[in-house]
Amino acid sequence: MSQENMSKTLETLGYAQTLRKRAEAISKADASERPKPHVNQLAEELHPRRQDLIIESIIEETDVMRTFRLKSAKGGPVAYFRAGQYIPFYIEVEGSMLSRPYSISSSPKDALSGFYEVTIQKKVGGYVSNYVYENWKVGDKVTAGGPEGNFYYTRLRDSKNVIGVSGGSGVTPFRAMAKAIVDKTMDTNLTLFYGINTMADGIYVEEFKTLEKESNGKFKIIFVLAKEEKEGCEKGFITAEMLNKHCNVSESSVFICGPQGLYKHMYDQTEKLSLRKKFIRYELFGETTSPFELDGYPMTEVQEFDMIVHQNSVTYNIKAKSDESVTVALERAGIDAPSKCRSGECGYCRAYIIKGDVFIPEDTDGRRGRDKELGYMHPCCSYPLSNIEMVVPRR
Ligand code: FES
Repeated sequence: MSQENMSKTLETLGYAQTLRKRAEAISKADASERPKPHVNQLAEELHPRRQDLIIESIIEETDVMRTFRLKSAKGGPVAYFRAGQYIPFYIEVEGSMLSRPYSISSSPKDALSGFYEVTIQKKVGGYVSNYVYENWKVGDKVTAGGPEGNFYYTRLRDSKNVIGVSGGSGVTPFRAMAKAIVDKTMDTNLTLFYGINTMADGIYVEEFKTLEKESNGKFKIIFVLAKEEKEGCEKGFITAEMLNKHCNVSESSVFICGPQGLYKHMYDQTEKLSLRKKFIRYELFGETTSPFELDGYPMTEVQEFDMIVHQNSVTYNIKAKSDESVTVALERAGIDAPSKCRSGECGYCRAYIIKGDVFIPEDTDGRRGRDKELGYMHPCCSYPLSNIEMVVPRR
């Protein structure tokens, strides 16, 4: 490895080294100079790297959606979060350790009572979500990380009025927000546009109506039905005109969560709202099922490439397909690679490219400017275009 590549590799691993040096310095320091343990303990409680959870109950929401209630395996509260955040779950499927982020659909107040709820949809081609849907049973122990993500209301950044736009299972973080408004964990107004085909496809429908009644006018739900006429509901797709009809958009933040098709539709609609960029917030884009659908993707057919992967002092030689992300190739090869959001946002999977090219879609390129210059990628949203040699940190 060249001197230049070596120094970049060290930068990749720098964070782990900093932690190790810090631990050494603390262990050598005089007891009076050491950080107070309760500070570290509080930090670990608020931002745990790992939480062991037990499935307490399962609710069948529809034929294809289940809500799992999870409590702490050691008892007591689970890590606190902000309504709208997700937790990454670490799930072993066919010998590979995979991670997936699922939005928390319960209120932050429920975390203090000792549980989270996540609602998971069985999907065509949904490898991990289908595994979870079919296999998770009451009493099973599951492993999760701490709460993550930026899809939450904060007074300093957002307008006091929030417009929620959701489709399909993208409604889950808004359930957490609506509950948080009613139990007074969250002080804002929320008007939620919930796009579904028919009323029968919706989840939490009766619960949303009850929350609306209990919210003192702070939460309002508008069902937008694509394939059904129903009194009191909008018909069609969620549009800028529809938002303007029900809300004072110029004094609102718009939060959007749903399938990738909804995001593409809403890019055009939000253009018409003339809001500053900071007032339009999209939740994680999610993994792309096929890069061939992405703007600028240069391949015309699927190819297989060789990947040389350095991780700590071990080197792996694996295969990667051009139509799957580098993270998927690493996981398929059984390499313990880090990931959380799987949408390019969190940077947890950050890895260094020594040689080779990848395609990084503009919409999900969450790298810092310096990382782009130095040749880092977020493997969860990078697709191989050639043979690759890379350095990957451990989880
Ligand atoms: S897992 Fe978050 S950027 Fe890749």
